[in-house]
Formats: sequence, structure tokens, C-alpha cells
Amino acid sequence: MVITIKQALSQAQRLRAVSESWRLESEILLADALKSNREALFAWPAQELSRQQADAYQHMMQRRERGEPIAYITGKQAFWDFELKVNPQVLIPRPETELLVETAIKFLEPNSSAALRLVDLGTGSGAIALALARHSKHWRVTAVDISPQALALAAENARLLQVENIEFCEASWCDGLDARAYDLVAANPPYVAVGDRHLQQGDLRFEPPIALAAKDSGLSHLQEIVKSCRQVLKKEAWLLLEHGFDQKLAVANLLRDAGYSNISCAQDLAGLDRLTSAQWPD
Ligand SMILES: C[S@@+](CC[C@H](N)C(=O)[O-])C[C@H]1O[C@@H](n2cnc3c(N)ncnc32)[C@H](O)[C@@H]1O
Repeated sequence: MVITIKQALSQAQRLRAVSESWRLESEILLADALKSNREALFAWPAQELSRQQADAYQHMMQRRERGEPIAYITGKQAFWDFELKVNPQVLIPRPETELLVETAIKFLEPNSSAALRLVDLGTGSGAIALALARHSKHWRVTAVDISPQALALAAENARLLQVENIEFCEASWCDGLDARAYDLVAANPPYVAVGDRHLQQGDLRFEPPIALAAKDSGLSHLQEIVKSCRQVLKKEAWLLLEHGFDQKLAVANLLRDAGYSNISCAQDLAGLDRLTSAQWPD
């Protein structure tokens, strides 16, 4: 049966059980099936879908009804001022992680023409590394991940975005990095406690456990990064760590015990403690 854009959108209610943004989500999926944009849906509501478009839309709606995240269904996610390819091998970049990019740029802006060396530990899709590399072509960014699948996708994103001042390193945290070489290290490591009930809810059910969960109440990777970065940061270089809303004190203690200075925490747009920065002392 042939259906129009308007009729396809009237099926939006099917997503009511999985999302509060069900109407918007059905528009995103239909626009993707039509290889078009949301504005076009409202400009031509009487346009008929081809058989192929209708099948693609139905398939995407079924996947969403099963709870699969929109970003994995469409294969893309907006971050900072660009779009990334994503797949189930990587975390879907979150808006709150833009605070990390914003803070890194604030610290480094006076040196935007200098040949600084930056690191993104646990790069996933490459979100943080690519945002920083795009900000200044003078900066050289090393994107590290333990997952070869994540690194392959991050490298593809770099190619699609034509970013060349970036290199990729398959390693556990600082293992593959040079000693005392970097002006800033940024990390959004896994920090949800193993066994946390949120891992069984919403988008998290579909994301790679290696990107989400950590032992010791979610602090094990943060602790390892704090320790190992002491060997790779230059004097007065910055370490920026994204963490859980309730981990501010624990992270500050880890940093203080390891000898860092100028420790401060910033809040995300929801007002939650989300990012702690610290300097490796002079
Ligand atoms: C929370 S995700 C962050 C992804 C991306 N930076 C972002 O903000 O969207 C954590 C990332 O750390 C990586 N990871 C986990 N353990 C690691 C380790 N021991 N060494 C390096 N990377 C690791 C995961 O593969 C995952 O890509």
C-alpha cells in the first residue's frame, strides 16, 4: 500500500512507549529513510513514499520500538559543531561531554597557534579528539582507545571530516604515550559502577559495556588514568576528567593524593558535577 509522508508520520504514536520525544524521533527516522531533512517533511506532506523508503521507515520504527537508540539506527550523532558516524561498537557521544571540549579550549585558547600536543583517552567515535583537532590545526591530537573497532570508526570520522592533525593509538590508557610530552589530556572513561541498575535501562542497554562500566564504584579507570598521566603530562599541563555526578569528591581526592594542583569541578547544563580539571605541578 502506498502511503504519504503525512500518513507515515501519523504512525509516530508507536514510539510513545519508548520515548517522550516520540513525535520528533519519528520525524528523524522518516527524514533518514527519505535521505532528506525534517523541514522537507512539512513542506511536502502529500508526497508518496517509494516502496523502498516505506520499507526502510518501517524497519527503523521497529528497531526503535525495541528500544534501540536513534543514533545507532541512523548511524549518526551530532556533537559540538559537526556530525559523527556511530555504531554499536562505540558510546553515543553525549551533550554533557561538550563541557570537556569547552573547558579544554578555554585553557588552551591563548596557545591556539602553538604546536601543542593533546590526548583524548578512550576516544570512542573520536568525538573529543576531533573537536579539539578541528579547533586548531596547530594542535596535534593523539586519540587512544583499547578497542580496535572504536579506533577504526574514529579514524573513519577523521577522514570524513578531513581532519589530519590527529593520530590513533591502540593502547590501555597511557601505555602507548610518550613521557612528559603532552600539554593536555582529556578523558571521558567508563565510570558507571559495575552492576548499576542504569546499565539495564534506556540507551545504555545497547552500548558497549567496555565503554560504560568500571569497578570500585565506577572509579577504577579514573584512578588508573590519574596515576598513569603523571608520567606523560608536561609541567603545568592539564588533566580533564569527565565523571559521574556523585564522583566529584572521590575524583578530587584521587587527584590530590597523586600530587596534582589547581583541582576544580565544573557543572554540566543540568547543574550536575560532571568535569574535574587539575594541573600537573611545576
Ligand atoms: C565513556 S566511553 C567515551 C567515548 C568518547 N570519548 C565519548 O566521550 O563519546 C569510554 C571509552 O574508553 C574506552 N576504554 C575502556 N577501557 C579502556 C582502556 N583500558 N584503555 C583505553 N581505552 C579504554 C572504551 O573503548 C570507550 O571507547
